[in-house]
Amino acid sequence: MKNDLFLRALRGDEVERPPVWMMRQAGRYLPDFMKLKAKYDFFTRCRTPELATEITVMPINQVGTDAAILFSDILVVPQAMNVPFEMKMGLGPWLENPVRSAADVEKVVVPDVEQELDYVMEAIKMTVKELDSSVPLIGFAGSPWTILCYTVEGQGSKSFDKAKGFCFSQPEASHKLLQKITDTTILYLRAKIKAGVDAVQIFDSWGGMLSPTDYEEFSWRYIQQIIDSLKGEAPVIVFGKGCWFALDKMAASGASAVGLDWTVTPELARKWTGGDITLQGNFDPSRLLSPVAEIERRVKEMINRFGKNKYIANLGHGILPNIPVEHAQAFVNAVKNYKS
Ligand code: CP3
Repeated sequence: MKNDLFLRALRGDEVERPPVWMMRQAGRYLPDFMKLKAKYDFFTRCRTPELATEITVMPINQVGTDAAILFSDILVVPQAMNVPFEMKMGLGPWLENPVRSAADVEKVVVPDVEQELDYVMEAIKMTVKELDSSVPLIGFAGSPWTILCYTVEGQGSKSFDKAKGFCFSQPEASHKLLQKITDTTILYLRAKIKAGVDAVQIFDSWGGMLSPTDYEEFSWRYIQQIIDSLKGEAPVIVFGKGCWFALDKMAASGASAVGLDWTVTPELARKWTGGDITLQGNFDPSRLLSPVAEIERRVKEMINRFGKNKYIANLGHGILPNIPVEHAQAFVNAVKNYKS
């Protein structure tokens, strides 16, 4: 690997400067991405290895991040489980018949992932070739809870109250569903590692919707199963939005790194995670709307506070579509130019 900063930071090795990548870096703030978006619908882009490869390497060539993340979506997993998500223009994920009962859960299957999601594995193999050992490739999956949120709600939501209602009124059916998603996710991430990704990230985007007690029951225990199952196979990064209350568990889970949203200070994050694990984050994505000089100043301050070792610079959630590409470049360059 020509640039192995990201992998070194995951191992906790000394580095000259922290590596940098951005969640959702293969996305709509890139003008070239928008050109492909105009020509092909979302899941066509995901299912066509040539397109997924082209989009995955865009931010490497155009923004200069130290790692690539495969262009795909967390919802390809439920799709393979007999839960046929679509992506609707202006609305986002859409499921005609959401899973709302024990009988619905029975129809959800644990698939042969190598077969059902072969297009993902093909995209990984093609991307690995295209990257030619320039930077590592990250694979990902949604957490079981976050996938359940969309599967029960049928679309995005501000509160995911239908998903929570399902868990709280039908705990047995909800745990059955969570276990099926977990089993599939383990097979899926294992297949991705076999196909060539260098690390994997679990996105628990809606973990923060749950109280700490419910988080333990409906989200964390399944994430822990995934981490346990992948032990020794590849580094795992666990990211939970709004999950500051679980940072201690995440740090003790066997994961290689813990991803942070922007609502926690570096000092508290280090304290709650015990000071020894690699942390990733946590620039407020909206702060990329600040003038470039302000972005540079805040990036320097962020690294000073996290420290340059055991740290991966990133945003606290996905990059927003309205970020000027020059500002994304300024963020990445500010990390690359960091001197303590
Ligand atoms: O990070 C990357 O650059 C890799 C690609 C990636 C996408 N989705 C592409 C995408 C990743 C890692 C995801 C993860 C994902 N998808 C999450 C977890 C991370 C997070 O942001 O919380 C979630 C919750 C989803 C579900 C999803 N996919 C939603 C809610 C939407 C619609 C809203 C939105 O952000 O646009 C998507 C669509 C989607 N996934 C787009 C992209 C680039 C935009 C739609 C398009 O390009 O047509």
